[in-house]
Amino acid sequence: MRLGKTEIRLRVLLNYSLLSGLCIYLIITTSLNLATTLYPIIHHIPTQLADNTTGCNGHPEYCSRTYDNISQIGTHDSAFYGIMPSNDQNVDVTMQLNAGIRFLQAQTHRTAITKQLSMCHTSCAEDDAGPLEGYLITVKQWLDKHPNEVLTLLLTNGDYLDVGAFDEVFIRSGILKYAYIPSSTASPPPPSRRRRDDPASLPSPTPPTTPPPPTTTPPDPSVWPTLQQMITSSQRLVIFLDYGASPTSVPYILDEFTHFWETAFDVTTPFFPSCAIDRPSTISSTAAEIAAIEQRMYIVNHYLDTEVLGVAVPDRRDAGRTNAWDGEGGVGGHVGRCEMLHGGKKPRVVLVDYFDVGGWREVEGRLNGIQW
Ligand SMILES: *[C@@H]1O[C@H](CO)[C@@H](O)[C@H](O)[C@H]1NC(C)=O
Ligand SMILES: *[C@@H]1O[C@H](CO)[C@@H](O)[C@H](O)[C@H]1NC(C)=O
Repeated sequence: MRLGKTEIRLRVLLNYSLLSGLCIYLIITTSLNLATTLYPIIHHIPTQLADNTTGCNGHPEYCSRTYDNISQIGTHDSAFYGIMPSNDQNVDVTMQLNAGIRFLQAQTHRTAITKQLSMCHTSCAEDDAGPLEGYLITVKQWLDKHPNEVLTLLLTNGDYLDVGAFDEVFIRSGILKYAYIPSSTASPPPPSRRRRDDPASLPSPTPPTTPPPPTTTPPDPSVWPTLQQMITSSQRLVIFLDYGASPTSVPYILDEFTHFWETAFDVTTPFFPSCAIDRPSTISSTAAEIAAIEQRMYIVNHYLDTEVLGVAVPDRRDAGRTNAWDGEGGVGGHVGRCEMLHGGKKPRVVLVDYFDVGGWREVEGRLNGIQW
């Protein structure tokens, strides 16, 4: 078959366009990867934890403090790192941990095709940072290498899945050997079950006049061990899920809102004017219920969004100002408003984007009253 001249020209043009499209794509992805890889080197992010770290989470002062008496900087959307506008962090999870971060927050969704639990933002079509299992393996390998560190993982359950779906992945990842389970460390062991079932243990045939005491005391979830106790018992990973936790069926996945309340997220007003309780919702709560919620630990969502072409993205440009302690829009002012509104209590977690920008060590040190 002979091709007309126009047809040949069109085909050549098409091939050229395809080829140049591919080239442009390769150049862009390579530059993005290169920039992401170079970032920690240019900005001196430690790639390895100093070998001489002592104490608990790097601070001897923390060893005797209970878990709920330590404030931590947490990385919001810890799985989304890179230099793209939608990325919330500059460096990967291992580097976040090596730099000193001990609280990781991350979002999960189920992928449409493989039905796998993955680190996805809003939806897996939009932003997929890989399977949850891989993320957990990374964290586990880090815990293996760093025996004096207590980590917290706060996952969101974006698709409201049954907690069993998370349980499966946690089991497969091998990370469970580090999981903190409230009953085994925080409460005395429950009284023996044998008393009631075993007739031999009954001292006399006289029926008891008072009902027997309950055979198990549920652990008080608000009683926390010290960091040293968690390290000694090797229960160094505290796991929270925002929705769907069921401590009776999966005891190591703790319900976030039994332990915490949170300030609003997706804030776009630069100065964080409010420190109201955003979740759990208190719209129909009585004053007594609100007072009970205020007894919990709380999480300050201290990261800003900004609009780029009508799309909300993390405000990378202002991260230095946002993450600093001092100054308008800084952590100090935000936390001060929170303390004033909520009986002087300090936040136990301050979640930030681009944690490495703006001096998070100072912020954490100030919150804990230690030298940074
Ligand atoms: C620990 O390592 C840091 C960083 O290398 C160093 O500055 C510091 O002096 C070391 N401390 C001790 C006690 O060796
Ligand atoms: C929290 O830790 C500080 C510093 O060690 C201590 O002074 C304070 O009593 C502790 N608070 C509680 C409730 O344990």
